[in-house]
Amino acid sequence: MCGIAAPGSLNAGYERRVRVSELSRNAALVARARQVVPGAMWGHQDAAALPPGYPQYFSRAEGCHLWDVDGNRYTDFMCSWGPIILGHCHPAVEEAARRQAEKGDCLNGPSEVMVELAELFVQTVAHADWVQFKKNGNDATTSAVTIARAGTGRRKILVAAGSYHGSAPWCSPSVLGVTAEDRAHIITFTYNDSESLARAAEQAKGDLAGIIVTAFKHDLGIDQEMPRPEFARLAREICDSEEAALIVDDVRAGFRLHPAGSWELVGVRPDLSSWSKAISNGYALAALTGNDRFRQAASSVFSTGSFWTAAVSMAASVVTIRTLLDVDAVAHMARLGTRLRDGLDGLSRAFGLPISQTGPVQMPTVMFADDPGRIKGFAFCAAALAQGVYFHPTHNMFLSAAHTENDIAHALEAAELGFRAVQQLHALAAE
Ligand SMILES: Cc1ncc(COP(=O)(O)O)c(C=O)c1O
Repeated sequence: MCGIAAPGSLNAGYERRVRVSELSRNAALVARARQVVPGAMWGHQDAAALPPGYPQYFSRAEGCHLWDVDGNRYTDFMCSWGPIILGHCHPAVEEAARRQAEKGDCLNGPSEVMVELAELFVQTVAHADWVQFKKNGNDATTSAVTIARAGTGRRKILVAAGSYHGSAPWCSPSVLGVTAEDRAHIITFTYNDSESLARAAEQAKGDLAGIIVTAFKHDLGIDQEMPRPEFARLAREICDSEEAALIVDDVRAGFRLHPAGSWELVGVRPDLSSWSKAISNGYALAALTGNDRFRQAASSVFSTGSFWTAAVSMAASVVTIRTLLDVDAVAHMARLGTRLRDGLDGLSRAFGLPISQTGPVQMPTVMFADDPGRIKGFAFCAAALAQGVYFHPTHNMFLSAAHTENDIAHALEAAELGFRAVQQLHALAAE
């Protein structure tokens, strides 16, 4: 649960009080971690992959602001890489989590709140007749694939090349420690390319268990693409004619594009959907929703986890989903995301520095044109960070219901300095 803010520190303002340097608390923690954590940090949250100045360690957060361990305050456009959708430490969510924690979290089985949350999922998610809870997105995508195979009695899973579904051997972007056998029944296709999908389905003919697709193409470091309706419809048709499972991986986009499931936007309903990240505003929880075709398979497959019935995250989730619906969070994020996109477009034109802005405005990806080494993107983000705005140079970012017009105005002021930093790079290169 969220801690209490230190008195007075909420007004720390946008000024960076301590730069991340060899003398900083952040640097000291990184050095200590290097001794006891392999590589000091794992996976995508390794700040060493980010522009200079990005902190690894944070001390607290509130609304759409977070503070690093050196006391620097940032307006947050990563939202913990997606989980924070109502804002950090949302009072109603925290209150529900606290009340549940007082009663107990990890018991010999689930608490009453699991049934309440399951009912809420089934009411909210259009294709869902049932739901199972887990902890991480990876649990939910891997369970979806297992249930698709169990329910169809087939083996092949079609996966879009480059899509991220987690770090398990069947889908990890890394091949280290992965055997060919782990991926023996994975066939890849190109997202949004109907011909390539049809070819992959043909290759799997007679043994097709399912097709798994992300809500939109949100691969790292490239322009994002919304799903083409004809591509989505073809995926549905193939699964219907082959009696396979259409799986939408809504782990990253869930509840930011459409509360009933992201593919409602293209009018296509999956058989199974994976959820995590935003469903409980920062508490560890994942969900797998399914329709009645896969109910039997879901109840037959043995799947469990020591913490999958823990009640605190479920209590947080009930309040998160109700609040998202009550405040129409999708519309709020879309409105402010559009302001950010329009503002960045204006700055890009004014500076004569072309950028691509892709993906839904609630989850924008912003990259500079002609920037193969990411030099411009890194300079832009480092300059914005110095003004107290936490952007990402290559990954999609996230808005939340806690962002306000003022936060967008602040982001655009910081972005202006970011563009100026890129302009200076150009000037240096021309010398
Ligand atoms: C689309 C998608 N699927 C699955 C996952 C895996 O989720 P987790 O990291 O919670 O295991 C992620 C994580 O970023 C994701 O973006």
